[in-house]
Amino acid sequence: MTGNPQRKYRADYQPPAWLIDDVELDFDIGSAQTHVRATHSVRRNPDGPAAEDWRLDGRDMTLVSVAIDGRRLGESEYSCGDSALVLHGPPEAFTLTVETRIDPEHNLSLEGLYRSGDILCTQCEATGFSRITYFPDRPDVMSRYVTRITADAQAHPVLLSNGDCVEIGSAGAGRHYAVFEDPFVKPCYLFALVAGDLGVLRDSHTTPSGRTIDLRLYTEHGNEDQCAHAMASLKQAMVWDEATYGLEYDLDSYAIVAVGSFNMGAMENKSLNVFNTACIFAAPETATDDDFALVRDVVAHEYFHNYTGNRVTCRDWFQLSLKEGLTVHREHQFAIDQGSPGVTRIEQVRAIREVQFPEDAGPRAHPVRPESYVEMNNFYTITVYHKGAELIRMMEAMAGRDAFIAGVRHYLAKHDGQAVTIEDFVVAIEESTGLDLAQFRRWYAQAGTPRVGVQTDYREGALALTLTQSTPATPGQPDKADFDIPVSVALFDDAGRMVREPEVLRLDTAQAEWRFEGLAGEPTVSALRGFTAPVRLDHAPDDAALARLMAHDSDPVCRWDAAQSLFLKTLVAGVAARSGGEALPEPSERLFEAIAHLLSNPPADRALLAAMLTLPSVTRIGEEFDAIDIHAVCAARDHLKQAIATRFLEEFEALRADHAALQAYVFDVEEAGRRRVFRLALDYLAAVDAPGLRERALELSRTADNMTDRMAALEALRDLPGAARDTALAEFAERWADYPLVMDKWLRLQAGTRRADSVEQVTALLDDARFDFTNPNRVRALLGGFARGNPAGFHRADSGGYTLIADQVVRLDALNPQLAAALAGLLTPWRRHAEPEASAMRAALARVGEGVHSDNTREIVEAGLAEAPRSG
Ligand code: BES
Ligand code: ZN
Repeated sequence: MTGNPQRKYRADYQPPAWLIDDVELDFDIGSAQTHVRATHSVRRNPDGPAAEDWRLDGRDMTLVSVAIDGRRLGESEYSCGDSALVLHGPPEAFTLTVETRIDPEHNLSLEGLYRSGDILCTQCEATGFSRITYFPDRPDVMSRYVTRITADAQAHPVLLSNGDCVEIGSAGAGRHYAVFEDPFVKPCYLFALVAGDLGVLRDSHTTPSGRTIDLRLYTEHGNEDQCAHAMASLKQAMVWDEATYGLEYDLDSYAIVAVGSFNMGAMENKSLNVFNTACIFAAPETATDDDFALVRDVVAHEYFHNYTGNRVTCRDWFQLSLKEGLTVHREHQFAIDQGSPGVTRIEQVRAIREVQFPEDAGPRAHPVRPESYVEMNNFYTITVYHKGAELIRMMEAMAGRDAFIAGVRHYLAKHDGQAVTIEDFVVAIEESTGLDLAQFRRWYAQAGTPRVGVQTDYREGALALTLTQSTPATPGQPDKADFDIPVSVALFDDAGRMVREPEVLRLDTAQAEWRFEGLAGEPTVSALRGFTAPVRLDHAPDDAALARLMAHDSDPVCRWDAAQSLFLKTLVAGVAARSGGEALPEPSERLFEAIAHLLSNPPADRALLAAMLTLPSVTRIGEEFDAIDIHAVCAARDHLKQAIATRFLEEFEALRADHAALQAYVFDVEEAGRRRVFRLALDYLAAVDAPGLRERALELSRTADNMTDRMAALEALRDLPGAARDTALAEFAERWADYPLVMDKWLRLQAGTRRADSVEQVTALLDDARFDFTNPNRVRALLGGFARGNPAGFHRADSGGYTLIADQVVRLDALNPQLAAALAGLLTPWRRHAEPEASAMRAALARVGEGVHSDNTREIVEAGLAEAPRSG
């Protein structure tokens, strides 16, 4: 690693010295390069610093000319370097014209203007606009945009940008042009441009106030039939935001363009979202239930940004959670209203526990509002997004839903058209709801997951409940102040009847006690119901109490969690035995009884039944240990799964038979829940290679009318011996060769296959014609699928898995640093592992550090190799 990347600090914020009220962009798209002429009306910011010079960000482009008020500047009036154009002593108010040349054809970073297939498109968040023209690339410079695009009419018949199309015409020589005006001020990160030969699905939506919005969904020709679900989801999201928040869309048209090469899931550019095809395409034959839900939620998320993000945006990137935390929360509310509420919440909780908690306990832990960064793209994290959403959810719980929604409306009205801070949001919520969030604000400032202890003391009809809190040190934050933690609690008696209604206890000191009197006997405590706060709960009910909660708790999250705890007890004992070289213990009869009870008294929600019968993931089990013996974890989990499958073989056969498809595929709660149970049954049957399972699964892989069942079949076959697996995979590859997103499933299936030579298998696939190293979806499927989905292979004893990932990160870093950094992150939790894995993983991370040049990946590696934090 060389050079010294610049670290930016939240405390250093200064308002911009100059403001740009109007931006006029003129794109002349050639067959190779694109010429950009930008004309800005600029004025000094009355509230800004008294700077002499004005710095405009810009990278990877050629400056053609720069002029002020129409006069081309001489060499002494500006300087232009690798990352900026500096105007020396510009006037107080002026028109700036900057001409640049950019090269979308060779832009593999997928930021700025680039080509995806035959589509030219842009991605500007966070700082991609400075790859298009020189500009103060910061969200607190908000402008009105007019965009003119000129391009070849045949290669690029469709031209799009933000706002309304106000003019189209011929430009001669087979070229045409279009002009767009966006009436709303926006930061440059919301700018978008698309040019290509696109198919379109059109629809419309009428708002409660009677306005008709033209809806358009563009994709490469031939994919229109995969877009109906996304379009329906958009309309659902519009209706939901109108009904729930009273928010109506504010322009006459809303367009989404789906592109195959995209670093993220989707982007909320004003009136012109750009999406990864993976978050748009959903047809029964090619997409699973999980894909259908993903498309629905991402479409809704980007739509919800129109208010929470676009109309009111972030002052600086430290405030990212202002728009993302709030929008994820809105998306979560929406998802709960569309699907199984219990299981949707369980999945949100799983993301926090299995991904956010590890991040918050590792070398990259940071507050929801970070204090510093080198590369902003590294801070689009699960902490900023999902922990941020949980903070909003806690505010909603404290205020009550209606008051909270009124608070959000107050925030939006108060700051409409502004770039603001998280503090502005919290103040608006306080003003509107009357809540006092003084201590609550610490959630935004302090990293780390609080541990909440639960102790009970029952005597003569009275329960004393003691809650404690403590938060471990995180990098740069040795000591933590107490959080304000809402903990929802209810009490049940031995027969499973609720004897105390749920109540939210506010733990805002290191320790506090509550008393519950007049009880007929010692109650079972159901705590953190619905996951009221993102904390680790140290609560150890005995097996009998867990079985009661599992059977009777009215909160699906607690029911599921009780089952998980019961499984975890067996698994933790198994890991300990295995690590100590002993035989794996058999599960207790108590566990079997609880499962038997669940199977004979299943919840009405099929998805909940499936969730409750699903063993904790390898990651979740690892969370129980300071030093994870990953191979022991895998062995213990396999063993428990086989023990359960053996004991309940008949029951799983019956579940499979009773939950097989009886009708053509529809995506709804009922049917998706049924398919989940079906898939779970196949999974248990596969664990013991049940008689007839292989033949059945092979047959299903051929005949299923939908991808959900087909994938269930392939996943069941994946780790089984015999020819069925290879036959099914080969047939699958042949049948879906023309569907890149389906081939991603094929890559992922193979990457996740447990076999001694999985490293070699993945290495071979890197050279397969169906793989493409420049496409992020392919890279995530194969390399992400391996490092995340194949713990035994990734952590292989000879370090082959680590070396594979390290080498590919280095290779990728030269093309797409954003994606390389994300992949490098998979090597950073080395400290969580036992030896010899920890040292080998660390060595691989160091090897990455020696080969990479981007600020993105270097920031990740440096954080990963830094010393561990200590409590002061
Ligand atoms: N604004 C982001 C997209 C983005 C992220 C752009 C990082 C640039 C850098 C968008 O609103 C978003 O959050 N997308 C998510 C999906 C969403 C459902 C959480 C994504 O792309 O993963
Ligand atoms: Zn977002």
